Amino acid sequence: MFFKLSEEHEMIRKMVRDFAKNEVEPTAAERDEEERFDRAIFDQMGELGLCGIPWPEEYGGIGGDYLGYVIAVEELSRVCASVGVTLSAHTSLAGWPIFKFGNEEQKQKFLRPMAEGKKIGAYGLTEAGSGSDASNMKTVAKKDGDHYILNGAKIFITNAGDAEIYVVFARTDIEAGYKGVSAFIVEKGTPGFSFGKKEKKLGIRSSPTLEIIFEDCRVPAENLLGNEGDGFKIAMMTLDGGRNGIAAQAVGIAQGALDAATGYAKERKQFGKPIGANQGIGFKLADMATKIEAARLLTYQAAWRESEGMPYGKESAMSKLFAGDIAMEVTTDAVQVFGGYGYTKDYPVERYMRDAKITQIYEGTQEIQRLVISKMLLKD
Ligand code: CAA
Repeated sequence: MFFKLSEEHEMIRKMVRDFAKNEVEPTAAERDEEERFDRAIFDQMGELGLCGIPWPEEYGGIGGDYLGYVIAVEELSRVCASVGVTLSAHTSLAGWPIFKFGNEEQKQKFLRPMAEGKKIGAYGLTEAGSGSDASNMKTVAKKDGDHYILNGAKIFITNAGDAEIYVVFARTDIEAGYKGVSAFIVEKGTPGFSFGKKEKKLGIRSSPTLEIIFEDCRVPAENLLGNEGDGFKIAMMTLDGGRNGIAAQAVGIAQGALDAATGYAKERKQFGKPIGANQGIGFKLADMATKIEAARLLTYQAAWRESEGMPYGKESAMSKLFAGDIAMEVTTDAVQVFGGYGYTKDYPVERYMRDAKITQIYEGTQEIQRLVISKMLLKD
């Protein structure tokens, strides 16, 4: 366990905080209202080197680590959780499996432009009939010469539509259960690959969530990630890191809500004094800050373990479980501190509260995190 961030991590935090404040926050409410993804923000993140923080320079990254990456997601989510998850899904869910399981050619062709911020990545696992029960997917991939032919559909895909590179899971062997699942890299524009319904959501409304559809979609065999049958383990290992990105998003959302609530508690006067001077409000702020600090430490610890090459799956599930829950509690309390004003769109706390909810659901529900943690405890 560590307690001090390095100079490099502090530099990333400062750079991302400034960028978030100046370029992301001013349009956050408007993009939420209009459900509008802004590619220009992603492009700017690419120019700053944020789209490939943990990847080596030879693959277009900045040679940082997972702790630097979660700090970036946290700072972005502090002002806009939609931009936070764009970076999280791009890095953890699409970049990571290519970095870890891709061959040299795949890394140069797909990871490099992603890390440079020229292309966006997405991850396609969930289907209408298989959410928590992820291995029960129906999408199939049939070998045909030097191609695989994909048929099926995936739902709730973050970054879909705008992303150019998709890591997709499909069955190459229908009889073999999870051992029959394989992972593919599918490019936008591949014939037979199209987009379906765009979801209208409670929160993270400026992050696009779409269905992706494969109809006799011919994917070059060279786009197979790892070996046939490796897909389910690739999907699970990818989520091990992805969940910590969501924990960072949750910490950022909660911190943003606390910042707003603290400012308001100092300004707003009732009964002749700032409302923060009442213990009913002051103690609430104290509890909010304490929960955030605990969630942040869990999140940083899991990222640090991954950077150090230590096991981190259980720790990531714990950070996402705890941070997701406290984000929901803290943002709900922030709305309460604002009273009636908090319930309106004049202040950002109602957006934070709506955005927090998804952190308890995606990349595995809180119930699935408990399953993952308990399985590992019992295995240990
Ligand atoms: N790392 C490596 N291997 C793993 C693993 C991991 N983290 N988890 C499981 N495995 C392996 C197991 O060891 C086992 O292999 P062996 O038989 O060789 O030991 C194999 O995978 C099957 O494991 P299980 O029997 O545990 O599999 P299961 O079918 O019971 O499922 C589960 C386990 C944890 C419930 C899994 O299905 C799961 O994580 N479900 C939730 C799915 C999820 O998180 N979806 C999120 C979608 S993405 C998203 O939300 C993105 C977004 O919008 C931003």
